[in-house]
Amino acid sequence: MCGIVGYLGSNGAYEILIQGLKRLEYRGYDSAGVALVNADGCLNVHKSQGKVSNLEQTAAAGDTTGHTGIAHTRWATHGEPNDINAHPHVSQSGDIALVHNGTIENYAVLKKLLSDHGFTFKSETDTEVLVQLIEYIKLTSNCTLAEAVREALLQVEGAYAIAVVERNDPDTLVVARKSSPLVIGVGDGETFIASDATPIIGYTDKVIYLENDEMAIIKRGEPLSIVSVNSNQPSKIDVQKLRLSLAQLEKGGYDTFMLKEIFEQPNTLRDCLRGRITSDNRRVVLSGVELNKEKFLEAERITLVACGTSWHAALIGKRLIQDFCQIPVEVEYASEFRYGNPVLGPKDIVISISQSGETADTLAAIEIAKEKGAFVYGVCNVVGASIPRATDSGTYIHVGPEIGVASTKAFTGQVTVLTLFALAVGQLRGTVSPEQIEEIATALKAIPATIEETLKVDAEVQKLSRIFTYAHNFLYLGRGYNYPTALEGALKLKEISYIHAEGYPAAEMKHGPIALIDHEMPSVIIAPSDSLYDKIISNVQQVKSRGGAVVAIVSKGNTAMNDIADFCIEIPEVPECLTPLVASIPLQLLAYYIAVNKGKDVDQPRNLAKSVTVE
Ligand code: G6P
Repeated sequence: MCGIVGYLGSNGAYEILIQGLKRLEYRGYDSAGVALVNADGCLNVHKSQGKVSNLEQTAAAGDTTGHTGIAHTRWATHGEPNDINAHPHVSQSGDIALVHNGTIENYAVLKKLLSDHGFTFKSETDTEVLVQLIEYIKLTSNCTLAEAVREALLQVEGAYAIAVVERNDPDTLVVARKSSPLVIGVGDGETFIASDATPIIGYTDKVIYLENDEMAIIKRGEPLSIVSVNSNQPSKIDVQKLRLSLAQLEKGGYDTFMLKEIFEQPNTLRDCLRGRITSDNRRVVLSGVELNKEKFLEAERITLVACGTSWHAALIGKRLIQDFCQIPVEVEYASEFRYGNPVLGPKDIVISISQSGETADTLAAIEIAKEKGAFVYGVCNVVGASIPRATDSGTYIHVGPEIGVASTKAFTGQVTVLTLFALAVGQLRGTVSPEQIEEIATALKAIPATIEETLKVDAEVQKLSRIFTYAHNFLYLGRGYNYPTALEGALKLKEISYIHAEGYPAAEMKHGPIALIDHEMPSVIIAPSDSLYDKIISNVQQVKSRGGAVVAIVSKGNTAMNDIADFCIEIPEVPECLTPLVASIPLQLLAYYIAVNKGKDVDQPRNLAKSVTVE
């Protein structure tokens, strides 16, 4: 994880870097730091444990001048989060500073080698080893900074996006990437670099996505040079237009990004659906499917790979694809899949689902699937991220930047795209009837309005949240399409309120978790009026008869549940396969308000990061 930013131009670098770090804080907030090279040949480094606001206080007392600099916000991997382990790391002589997102796997070997040459280390990080190695190479080979960086990277195993500056040279910034992302913003006489495009918006809309194993040498007054780290051969420079606006990165009047993102779902799903269902609601049009018809007609199995919330969306995707396409489907955690020796061939389709498009395990899973000959389809939010560039084809969910660490609108976007995908492949294979397509496409097109309606439970859920703020454990139960919804509801609560919560298939509860139920353990039971409603009623009764409080999520007009459950939250009635989209709304709100009641930082919960670019 971690976020990196860099600037070389004619404006004050410090402000630009700090603003950039604030946009990247979702990637980690254990510590932050900045290194500035000024025209007097000084390299000033400021760092601080905790959030960027702490760094601002620390740096205020020091020299923040300079038109060149690099900065970092950290999610700790090697070494605890403290000032010393904070980036930028500086070489022994104090001449070179470096920021790094990723992990250097062979750092212990390199550290030993450098120690044998008299280098000493201040921090416990893998990153300090790299900056020392660059200095060692520079001193022993008497080469330029860029040459030393390239030489050092040839010795490094692992993942990295780095930015490097040198005292006495305010006119050079060197950056490189392998597995971790890096975007270059091309301005008028100024260049920006960042882990994603958000720090660049507002300065320029021209961006270059650095490819794996590439490095860029940014020199004042000279054209940008990009070369392959391995061959040192120049790469083709592909400048793309950025389609993001500043407004998308602001809270828009809400207290938090998470609340904004919850309430934005009617609009984000409108964007997600736009142009993908014909006006007569009889056809679903996904270009990624249309352009690869043969692959989908021949497919014998589909494997969905993802992490976290995206994995929950994948579980819903499995049901959708099985129901509408009659293809066997497996769902795997990307981290397990990549080391699970998967058996795949040309008739396999692997679908990778990722909001950020940068999750390291998901990226690795894609590479393995490709090596084994599978066709890889991506479902992603961030346009131009590593995952959509690595997949053979795919569909963007188009829900706009998600900044709250706990995923909300990306989840509903992923489920929406997976529904469209299942219908599109089903219509292609003839496994879904025209009537079924029309029924679901009509309801799906209305989903933005349905979610608008669902969001009216806000005040009621807020009130309910007060009753449960101090519970220590929660059980979330659901069946069929809503077993993954239960998992997602539990994950939301865990992530932001730090209350232990378990999601379980409602019927499976009697094989273990039922032992936990007493009057102190509330259960949230997702019970819309679907094909499993009668079954779930008995699960509710099992909880009630053991003294557990029940919050039931039920379809509008279901008064029967009022007699059994302690609290009922009504959601609009939709076809069964769309119930996760509406049922997840009150669960997002419940987790949100409980966390707020507890005074937690919902947008930046402890220990988490939004984009997990390490294993
Ligand atoms: C992190 C985030 C989750 C997210 C997961 C997968 O754990 O905190 O919200 O679901 O990574 O991320 P991706 O970007 O691949 O969907």
